[in-house]
Amino acid sequence: MEKSKLMSKISRRSFLDSSAKISAGAVVASSLTGAAAGSAAIRTTQGSPNDKINVALIGCGGMGKGDLGYFLRLEEVDCLAVADVDKSRIEEGQALVESRRGKKPDGYQDFRKIIDRNDIDVVIVGTPDHWHAIPTIYACETGKDVYVEKPLATSIEEGRAMVTAARRNNRVVQVGTQQRSAGHFARAVEIVQSGQLGKIRQVRAWAFIDWKGGMGNPPDSAPPAGVDYDMWLGPTPKRPFNPARFHFTFRWFWDYSGGLMTDWGAHMVDVVMWAMKEDPVGAMAMGGKYGYPDDIMETPDTQQSIIEFPSFSCVWEHMVGCGVGPWQREHGVEFHGQNGILVVDRGGWEILSETDSDGKPRQYRMKPTPRQGGSSDYHFTHVKNFVDCVKSRQQPTADVEVGHKSVIACHLGNIAARLRTQVTWDPKTEQISGHPEAKNYVGREYRAPWTLSKA
Ligand SMILES: NC(=O)c1ccc[n+]([C@@H]2O[C@H](COP(=O)([O-])OP(=O)(O)OC[C@H]3O[C@@H](n4cnc5c(N)ncnc54)[C@H](O)[C@@H]3O)[C@@H](O)[C@H]2O)c1
Repeated sequence: MEKSKLMSKISRRSFLDSSAKISAGAVVASSLTGAAAGSAAIRTTQGSPNDKINVALIGCGGMGKGDLGYFLRLEEVDCLAVADVDKSRIEEGQALVESRRGKKPDGYQDFRKIIDRNDIDVVIVGTPDHWHAIPTIYACETGKDVYVEKPLATSIEEGRAMVTAARRNNRVVQVGTQQRSAGHFARAVEIVQSGQLGKIRQVRAWAFIDWKGGMGNPPDSAPPAGVDYDMWLGPTPKRPFNPARFHFTFRWFWDYSGGLMTDWGAHMVDVVMWAMKEDPVGAMAMGGKYGYPDDIMETPDTQQSIIEFPSFSCVWEHMVGCGVGPWQREHGVEFHGQNGILVVDRGGWEILSETDSDGKPRQYRMKPTPRQGGSSDYHFTHVKNFVDCVKSRQQPTADVEVGHKSVIACHLGNIAARLRTQVTWDPKTEQISGHPEAKNYVGREYRAPWTLSKA
């Protein structure tokens, strides 16, 4: 079947229909599964490097435009449409494409107009975290591949639903954890997995951000002109507009994100998961608004989460308003083995030796390695890996399930911090226990008419 005929079959039901809007995933999934799955086979035959890949961007903010810029470095990529609830951002997205391709893409305030199109192969999801799940699932249901930003989701249940949608429809879904495509992170992971550091008992990951101070307490106000605020809120609770709970700073509010634990944890804890190849089994945590107690920000400005794995523990630390973390680095991961310690961040990696004294002059257990530099341009490598997989139908480097599992560890750290308790996690059933309320945090309620398709 030709691609155009196939896609029109897939999209015969509009996501803008009121019934589809209410339970789009479930309604469309049941009727489209076969066709959408078939489209993967069609795309497999499009392995020619000369094929154009038509992308569309949903969410034209800092990262969405950044991602799109990397896509547009690839000649085979064209961008046909952009969507944003904020009209000024639609114009920014359109201007970017026009400057690179000489042609203005279509612009929409309602992203479902992109979902409904038959000529889009790939959707980039650059929306705030609370808007990752629905566009990703809708795109999968209509036979599109997806590059979705990290952290994959605002709840564990959403993440699992995204994995299910990707698998059911044979879609290629890459998460924007670009460290996975960085050669120097890969080298660090290789060393950890080689065993030369000895038995690794403790891992530390952290983010200290001095570029953010207090946010004050701005009052609620009218939404800016040209913004569809109800659509920005989407599945989250209705509330008056507040400029602090909007572009970029949404990440410091529980309704839309998980603070630094998920914002930077999605990157650094992901490196832990990659190297150590174990699923978490629990977490405990402490944290609070110690730096900016009267600030409007909801998520802790200071937090330590201890994430339990079967054979080691992982300590996550973050501070807002301070930029010097462990090993004098603002972010990083430390793998502490019996023989040595490997420290890696975006700038490079090094190995320090553990010591042995036992009553004798101190001995070093392994040869240290001075700091080695970091890789360059790996965000582009990550995007290119995704585009290559769209053509080959292989799983990308940061497949949706990889992103799901990494952010589970971060969600557990946050759930423990919010309940000020210890929680136990069963990675097989993806259920949480250990506190009477803990299980309620695995998912989150959606505001009507939005629903999460879990089938
Ligand atoms: N990979 C990385 O290194 C990295 C870096 C920064 C941000 N991010 C991630 O990128 C995402 C976006 O972050 P940001 O800093 O660009 O945020 P942002 O607020 O600047 O941009 C988000 C954009 O999405 C738009 N939007 C919101 N709801 C929408 C909807 N329903 N339909 C269409 N557009 C909608 C907003 O209007 C805004 O323009 C976040 O998930 C963040 O964690 C990743």
